[in-house]
This record gives sequence, structure tokens and C-alpha cells, in this order.
Amino acid sequence: MPPAREGNRPARGEKPPARGDRQAARGRRQAAREYPPVIALDVGTTKIACLHGELDGEGNLIAVTGIASVPARGMHKGVVVDMAEASESIRAAAEAAAAAAAEDEQDETAAAAGVFVGVAGSHVVSMNRRVSITNPNPDHRITRAERQELLRKLKEVDVSPDLKLIHALPREYMLDGQDGIKRPVGMYATNIEMEGHLVFGAVNSVQNLVGAVEHGGLRVDDIILEPLASSRACLSEQDMRSGTLLVDIGGGTTDIALFVSGRLAHSAVLPVGGNHITRDISVGLKVPLAAAEKIKLEFGHAQSHLVEDIEMARVMVEEPGDAGERPVTFSRKFLARIIEARVAEIFSLVLQQAKDSGYLSSVASGIVVTGGSSQLEGICGLAELVTEFPCRIGYPAVAGSIVDIPSNPVYATAVGLLLFGSERVFARGPSQPPEPLTSTLGLWEEVMAKVKGWFGLRNKT
Ligand SMILES: Nc1ncnc2c1ncn2[C@@H]1O[C@H](COP(=O)(O)OP(=O)(O)OP(=O)(O)O)[C@@H](O)[C@H]1O
Ligand SMILES: [Mg+2]
Repeated sequence: MPPAREGNRPARGEKPPARGDRQAARGRRQAAREYPPVIALDVGTTKIACLHGELDGEGNLIAVTGIASVPARGMHKGVVVDMAEASESIRAAAEAAAAAAAEDEQDETAAAAGVFVGVAGSHVVSMNRRVSITNPNPDHRITRAERQELLRKLKEVDVSPDLKLIHALPREYMLDGQDGIKRPVGMYATNIEMEGHLVFGAVNSVQNLVGAVEHGGLRVDDIILEPLASSRACLSEQDMRSGTLLVDIGGGTTDIALFVSGRLAHSAVLPVGGNHITRDISVGLKVPLAAAEKIKLEFGHAQSHLVEDIEMARVMVEEPGDAGERPVTFSRKFLARIIEARVAEIFSLVLQQAKDSGYLSSVASGIVVTGGSSQLEGICGLAELVTEFPCRIGYPAVAGSIVDIPSNPVYATAVGLLLFGSERVFARGPSQPPEPLTSTLGLWEEVMAKVKGWFGLRNKT
């Protein structure tokens, strides 16, 4: 479990804020509490993280007033599998974060605020498509009608009836074979093509998530796809412009977001993560899961060739029932081989995803790995070996703000949710009450309208 509060981390490329700046920020906060607190809820497979943030009068996120992280129950591979258990964990995380924030917040405004929730799971699927039409206008001038027709064709795709289109994102246009066109209306061409990214989600999975959050005593303000949230927290605008592959390796899932020319070109959620590494260790070393997790955190390494042949480690492992403890001795190199095999498989899957998307050659800036499993020693080295891209760890950061944020990669999604939420709360205006989703079930259109809104923030055409 990550510590409740992490040390301060300066925003990317910036100096840590001076003590005077912090005091000034606190003064500004106390002077103007115009906006309700922003509350982010990351419902992960292994932990539920809840963050409370505060905005200044200009909409800047200036403080994280409450942080809580509790073990997740009732979750599997990023989706709710037991509504009662999941909602209990959500309630516990929300109450702990609210208690931590209480001295900074007015209780009634916190209670009224809705929460910004992340959605993931392997039910989220995406694809890239290219569609074309022949310009029907005699003068070959492109109007909005042609753009609309292309969008309609882009959305016309045969998928399972359980899946619903979350969003259709036009990325670029090709006019008579000329690519790289962002705004075609007003230009002239005979053959007009549109390339776009489509994202689908399973209706039931999203509804179960919203239900668990509401049963946990919270109101859902908005829903954001988790790979987008993690990207928001860990990537700079420059990263997104120059082509970056974000990989958030959590406990049950690996979330992928590929950005090209500042826009989302591909997204995916793979049903594999740190829990699989732990399970492999449990089988390989013949120890219970809890001991395997402890061994992974304490002795794990993702690159076996960097571990000495003779390095041995010893841990005490609890026997089932009252049988006490027994010592287990193992070779660290053998442990690293187990871990390496699984992590290499994860990066191979990620690479395959990027290849299949058709955008691999546009990834100029490399890979950014975040999420709890990114803390595994040697993970970036292995990512570089498997993918042949430069790699760095993604630490959540808030550019240009004086703010205490949890810089541990385990909080990447939660910090991203807080940033998206901040924009939404500010855009709504100081005196505007939140517009939470009003009911738990049967509100697919409402949920999806909100998800679409978030995509639109970074994918305007
Ligand atoms: N120091 C560490 N070394 C290796 N693995 C770690 C370390 N710290 C945490 N992890 C792993 O990170 C995983 C949890 O990460 P995270 O909190 O990002 O997942 P989650 O959000 O709960 O799950 P998901 O996003 O998959 O639904 C666990 O598998 C845990 O073992
Ligand atoms: Mg996660």
C-alpha cells in the first residue's frame, strides 16, 4: 500500500516552490473559496485512491487537501465484480480522504461535490478506421455536410451488441491523397478521406462502476477513461505533440494511450498487470500470494542479467493456519527471471498494440511507464530492450502550480482525474452547483455523453 502522503515534487522541469510561495498560496486559498472541492476517485484493482483538490479564483489547482488510499475489494482486472464489497472500499477511501481534508474544507461544500471517476477494464476497446467519400459538390469545395457524412461513416462499424460507441474522434483528413489536413472545410478536393479513433465500452461494466460509487455514498460528477487521466498527469504537452506511448501498469490492468501530434491516436486496456507478476512468483517460488507480493516489492528486479548469479535472499513465510512461519531461501536471479518473463510479455503486448494501431512510427519521444508496477526495479531498461524506445518513469505532476501532489506513480490516474475535474469545476463557474449523474442504472446515454465530453477536451477538430 502506498504511503498516505508523499513528498512534494516540483512540476516537470521546475524548481520546488519556496516556503514564501506556499504561504502565499495558502493565503489565496483562505481568501477565496469560490469553487467547491474537486474530488477524484481512482477505483483500481488493488487500491481505491481518493484525492481532494482546491482551486484558486483562476481555476488553478493550488492544493491537494486530502489523500487516501485503501485496499480495493470486489474488483477484478479493473472492473467491479462484487458491488457490495467494491462500494464498501469506495466508502472507506472517500471517508478517509474527507477526514484528511476536513480542516481545509467547508464540510457542506465537500458533501455537495460530485466525484470524478476513472473507467478502465478490458471491456474498453478501440480501433482506428479510415473512411472516404467522393465530393458531391460540382465545385469540389468541402462543406460541413461532407465532414458530417464522413463522421457518420466512421461510426458505422459492426461490433458486438454488448458494446456501445463511447466516442468517434476524427484525427486527420486526406484530400486527394494529401494527408496531414486537420480542417478540411473550405478546401477543394474530389476524394475526401477521414482517419479516426473509435472507443467502445461495455454498457454493463460502466453501469456497475457508477452503481458501486453511488452505493459507496458518493455522487458521480463525471467519468474519464483512465489511460487519458494517467496521460494528463504524467505527460507534458510537448510529449503529446512529439509522439509518446503512455503505459500505466497497475495491479490488474495495463492501460495504454498513444499520442501523436497532440492527439490521442490509440487507447487500450489490457487485462494483465502487477498481480500476474505476483501470481507467477507465488507459483515459481511455491509461496502464498501475500509472501510473493512482499518478495516482489523487496527483492524484485525486471532485468535478470543485472542480478548477480550468487545473490540469495531469505524471507519468513507464514504457513496456513497456526503452523507458524517457515524460512524460504531463493536466488534473486531466479526471481528476476520470473518477473522478467511476465513484464517482457506485457511490453510485447503493448508494442503489438502500438504496431496494430499503425502509429508506432510516430512515437518519436518514447515510452512513459507509470502506475504502481512502474516502481519495479529495472522496468524501464526492460521496456527499452523489448520495444527499442527510450523509456522514463511517469511521475504525476501539475505544471506551473504550487501544489502538494502525491508524486508516486501509483497516483497517476487519481492526479489525472483531479486535473480533469479541476477544469470541469472551473468551467462550470464559481457559483454553479455540480451536475451529478442522477441515478445509478439505465443512464447509459447520460454517462456516455459525459465521457464524450472529456474526450472532446483534448481531441477537438
Ligand atoms: N515497489 C514496487 N515494485 C513492484 N511492484 C509494485 C511496487 N509497488 C506497487 N507495485 C505493484 O503495483 C500494483 C498496483 O498498482 P496500482 O495501484 O497502479 O494498480 P490499481 O490502480 O489498483 O490497478 P488497475 O489500474 O490495474 O486497476 C500491484 O500489483 C503492486 O504489487
Ligand atoms: Mg490503476
